Amino acid sequence: MDFKNLVAHCKEYGFIFQSSEIYDGLSAVYDYGPYGVELKNNIKAYWWKSMVQMHENIVGIDAAIFMHPKTWKASGHVDAFNDPLVDNKDSKKRYRADQLIEGYAEKIEQKINKDVEKAREKYGEAFDEAQFRATNGRCIERQKQIDAILARLGAAMKAGDMEDLKAQIEEYEIACAESGSKNWTEVRQFNLMFNTQLGNIAGEEGKLYLRPETAQGIFVNFLNVQKSTRQKIPFGIAQIGKAFRNEIVARQFIFRMREFEQMEMQYFVRPGTEMEWYEYWKAARLKWHKALGTDDRKLRYHDHDNLAHYANAAVDIEFDFPFGFRELEGIHSRTDYDLTQHQELSGKKLQYFDPEQNENYIPYVVETSIGCDRMFLAVVSNALTEETVPDAEGQESTRVVMKIHPALAPVKIAVLPLLKNKEALTETATLIYNDLKKHFNCQYDEKDAIGRRYRRQDAIGTPYCVTIDFDTLEDGTVTIRDRDTLEQKRIKTEDIYNFVQEKVSFESLLG
Ligand code: GAP
Repeated sequence: MDFKNLVAHCKEYGFIFQSSEIYDGLSAVYDYGPYGVELKNNIKAYWWKSMVQMHENIVGIDAAIFMHPKTWKASGHVDAFNDPLVDNKDSKKRYRADQLIEGYAEKIEQKINKDVEKAREKYGEAFDEAQFRATNGRCIERQKQIDAILARLGAAMKAGDMEDLKAQIEEYEIACAESGSKNWTEVRQFNLMFNTQLGNIAGEEGKLYLRPETAQGIFVNFLNVQKSTRQKIPFGIAQIGKAFRNEIVARQFIFRMREFEQMEMQYFVRPGTEMEWYEYWKAARLKWHKALGTDDRKLRYHDHDNLAHYANAAVDIEFDFPFGFRELEGIHSRTDYDLTQHQELSGKKLQYFDPEQNENYIPYVVETSIGCDRMFLAVVSNALTEETVPDAEGQESTRVVMKIHPALAPVKIAVLPLLKNKEALTETATLIYNDLKKHFNCQYDEKDAIGRRYRRQDAIGTPYCVTIDFDTLEDGTVTIRDRDTLEQKRIKTEDIYNFVQEKVSFESLLG
């Protein structure tokens, strides 16, 4: 399903609404509706179960959003959490300079892809894409161009060379998408942290930031957690919580938001063992995604060429969103940078005594960090499908179905009396619903023809529908319909719980 329809579907079926919509909305801020909040909670529960509760040596915390302002000085966010900003003087539109340059490189990539598709059409079955890319003169030339553009961009970003970014925009003759004008301001650094003021302290002293990542709440609590839970290295601290970034260009729906939620885990290890753990978490996190049944071809690793100031290795798990492969999750080997910085600025020792080594040291950290909202978008875009299936009368009809893993589905089971004006059916259905709702998020629906009710449940991803008909009154069986296969079978009323429980439990995902 294309992206526009996906966004419309999320609104129509109560998954996601634009924030403050009645005031024309607030850009890059979104509200989760009744089905959205269920799905989001299930994503969080899957992450928490597999990352925290399945590991004896990983514990959770819930730190406050506000932190002492020195935290952000220590972490480097006050000085270095910037994006390069440029304004178009004619349209007054604001852009990220690096994204303009990346967009230029992407256009060249699109030309390569066009040539590839043309060749595929020409040669049919015999076409070897890798060979074509490696041998076709035009492709090779264009690829070289892309590599050179990205290398220069990377170097300028690393050096914080705003003048060179401006020079690149001019050299490539990049125009504003809105006005077509090439009349740009200088490129300048823009800090992405939102700030606010403590009520009782005026001026700089009382300046507070809304946290741009949850990780720092974990670092500053490292010793509190280690001592109170008597963990031995290696051990992890996990957290799910809101983060805020004043993104310059916020687009692509919930992919890049100004207020979003992160699920982060910091794994504290002995210095020198970090690469081993980095590889471990890299593999473990990809496995976590694949367990959901996501198409293998939609997930890939992307190693960082330009490492952040605190990292000695970093990789993204990318997902093939409707607008292409983009970062879904990051795994970073953050060295001892954060703890060392906090030790320095706070003047408090943040060392661990290793009884096995009989020495004190500041642990190294391997981090796994995933945006909950981005995961939501990945799940929905992987699941939302338009297909032709036979309807209740056996006629071909189109349906929109969210083929989401049953463990994540917002509603697990819908209870549908065949007819709404037959009291015996609605009474029995209500009894079944009242029992099932103690165990699962269920829906009771008696409105409209059964086919329409199935379609409504398909659209929100309900994996099972049970229909209560006249046979139910005779023999105590119901029809249970599978969302994906459309298979319908009769099972005993008392077996519904076990049948559904097995399918919707996280157990199958946890390996
Ligand atoms: N603690 C490390 C950290 O914050 P990051 O790569 O900046 O690293 C981690 O962010 C994850 O948070 C990303 O992989 C992405 O899933 C999510 N994320 C980052 N910025 C986001 C935004 N503006 N909107 C939604 N999700 C975002």
